[in-house]
Amino acid sequence: MKRILFIVGSLRKDSFNRQLAHEAEKMIGTRAEVTYLDYSNVPFINQDIEFPEPETVNQLRTKVKEADGIWVFTPEYNFSYPGHVKNVFDWLSRPLVAGDYDTKTVINGKKVALSGAGGKMATAKCREKLTELLTFIKADVMELQTGVALNVEAWTEGRMILSDEQLKNLKEQAESFLKFIE
Ligand SMILES: Cc1cc2nc3c(=O)[nH]c(=O)nc-3n(C[C@H](O)[C@H](O)[C@H](O)COP(=O)(O)O)c2cc1C
Repeated sequence: MKRILFIVGSLRKDSFNRQLAHEAEKMIGTRAEVTYLDYSNVPFINQDIEFPEPETVNQLRTKVKEADGIWVFTPEYNFSYPGHVKNVFDWLSRPLVAGDYDTKTVINGKKVALSGAGGKMATAKCREKLTELLTFIKADVMELQTGVALNVEAWTEGRMILSDEQLKNLKEQAESFLKFIE
């Protein structure tokens, strides 16, 4: 069975992006094994501690290596992706051995899907910049993405309600991603 690693780009307990991820997980159902990446213990990237890699980074790399695909659900922070999301990909972009740029990194060639829930621009800038970052580190980013412009109740009452169209887009993305990682 194919394995998909979900990365939720929000640390917030009631994160709308996490809720979006749960919806996608339901849509995938039993057709792939979904796990959520816990990156809360991954330190800030620091070249002083790169070699040997910290144990938490080793675990991060192993999870990425074992996954057939990665699906990122992230909020947009100030027209970009959150810093902690970049931190994860910065670690993944680095060699295992100092100066070894010949061995492929675990993110090289990895298939990635992007989704995000946010303001009325539906995280478009965030996903654009994340696509740029991921392409730079040689990940294979799927073109079809889902952007959710959050409903009014999300902002006023903390209650995210996905429209039929948003759910349809997410479903289409889930179907495409399952094919993309085949
Ligand atoms: C530092 C910061 C910057 C933000 N900048 C943006 C932004 O540029 N665009 C946007 O749509 N929402 C922005 N927001 C609002 C988030 O979309 C909103 O808080 C959303 O609920 C966060 O996702 P989450 O519910 O998954 O945590 C920002 C929030 C924070 C904390």
